Amino acid sequence: MTNSAVPSAPSFPCGSTEHTKLRHVPLRPFGRVVQASGGRGRIQDIPVEMVRRWTEESRVLVLRGFDLLDPLEFADYCRQWGEVLKWDDQEVIDLVIQENPKNYLFGSGDVPFHWDGAFVEANPRYFMFQCLDATPGVGGETVFSDTTQVYRDVNEELRERWSRISMTYSTEKVVHYGGEITERLVSQHPATGLPVLRFAEPLAPEKYKNPVHVKVNGVDESEADELLTTLAELVHRPEYCYDHDWRAGDIVLADNFSLIHGRNAFTGPTKRHLQRVEVI
Ligand SMILES: [Fe+2]
Repeated sequence: MTNSAVPSAPSFPCGSTEHTKLRHVPLRPFGRVVQASGGRGRIQDIPVEMVRRWTEESRVLVLRGFDLLDPLEFADYCRQWGEVLKWDDQEVIDLVIQENPKNYLFGSGDVPFHWDGAFVEANPRYFMFQCLDATPGVGGETVFSDTTQVYRDVNEELRERWSRISMTYSTEKVVHYGGEITERLVSQHPATGLPVLRFAEPLAPEKYKNPVHVKVNGVDESEADELLTTLAELVHRPEYCYDHDWRAGDIVLADNFSLIHGRNAFTGPTKRHLQRVEVI
């Protein structure tokens, strides 16, 4: 995956909180950084509806120069956006790289594209991260692919084919998720009504701990492999992908319907510590 996390000019001042000026900087090919001057921003000082609008417009919103929240405050803040999803009774999940993980999410390898919440059938609308610590220059970027743009650019014939397809995903529960679900490939964004793709890449058992098996329904078995290959090739194209290179202090809000996401492998040891909350 390529790294497209380069802010592009021009930036423009837009909005302020009581004491802090906010500068909006577009990311490419999508996304936005909102930078608080002086590093003294407080997310609680911006109306939730405004942050929600920025997130929906940009799909990925990066807040920099804002205070991080303690876990209880973080969950309370997210609750203003909607119901917070619990994973085994936990609202805030700590994501750190482990030495001998049971699941690939906690290892240092790549994480293929997926959307969050598939195996709890809760369809989180947003996911929110804060980055407590990071190690620069060792990979591990979170990669977001904008499936609304992928769908927009394909021809009618492929759209028609995709409209008849559903996929059955199955995985064993070894950490906070697992089971079997069937989901239509083409779904609809709950706010914009735009078509989105619900697609998670298969995880081969020879490469990944906790593999995910994918069965394609609605096409001949002989066409299933080709369909998965085409889909995977499209969602990985650089024009649809924003790679987020984490910095300590980042708060990132993302649209879990428009986007699927994954992670590049780490190339060296990392002390990265993210906390994640999902909002239904
Ligand atoms: Fe995820």
